[in-house]
Amino acid sequence: MPTLRYFGHSAFELTHDGTVALIDPFITGCPTAAVSADELNPTVILITHAHADHVGDAVPIAKRTGAPIITINELAGYLGQQGVETIGANHGGTVAFEGGTVKFTPAWHSSTIVDDDGAYVAPGVPAGLIVTLGEKKVYFAGDTALFLDMQLIGEEELDVAVLPIGDHYTMGPSDAIRAAKFLRAKAVVPCHCNTFGLIEQDTEAFKKDLEEKTPSKGVILAPGQSWEIA
Ligand code: NI
Ligand code: MN
Repeated sequence: MPTLRYFGHSAFELTHDGTVALIDPFITGCPTAAVSADELNPTVILITHAHADHVGDAVPIAKRTGAPIITINELAGYLGQQGVETIGANHGGTVAFEGGTVKFTPAWHSSTIVDDDGAYVAPGVPAGLIVTLGEKKVYFAGDTALFLDMQLIGEEELDVAVLPIGDHYTMGPSDAIRAAKFLRAKAVVPCHCNTFGLIEQDTEAFKKDLEEKTPSKGVILAPGQSWEIA
């Protein structure tokens, strides 16, 4: 069975049978990071959008390990200019990697990065990721507001939905519960909270509310914790 490991904020690793998919690896500078970037050895890196708290250490990790970065087309081009292997895709597209696939979904958010000259550039649009690995389907919503098309994503028969609940920059807990109703995943893992002051949330209260109002099980992972997706 695939294992989902949490590193803090929105950084996860989904592992199965030698495939290690690293998602949104914001490690260096993350106040709650459970590992150092040097300890990670992914076979593929997946990124939802260009914000620094998602791209994180992707380029140095890709350089050290040779793992390709799969992300939205323009962000793939931007990161590719830094000397790493990238594969660009877009909403609706599915990309195969060694051991699994990733399908890109829309997300309601922004997607900018500050370049070396201090200028804001916007390489492409934000996305969510439906990762299929070891016959399990995990939806990483990325940073997003609630949107009605999550009903379509719910038709994918998700095993797990990883949802931001921090509020302020993304949906908060009550909208994440409405999202969970649309998504109908067997389990919901909250993230993008309790990294810094503006996104403090009570994850236990979220789990309780989720399990009262939806059929999904709440799985709270502390940074560093792993969970085998049964
Ligand atoms: Ni963001
Ligand atoms: Mn973010």
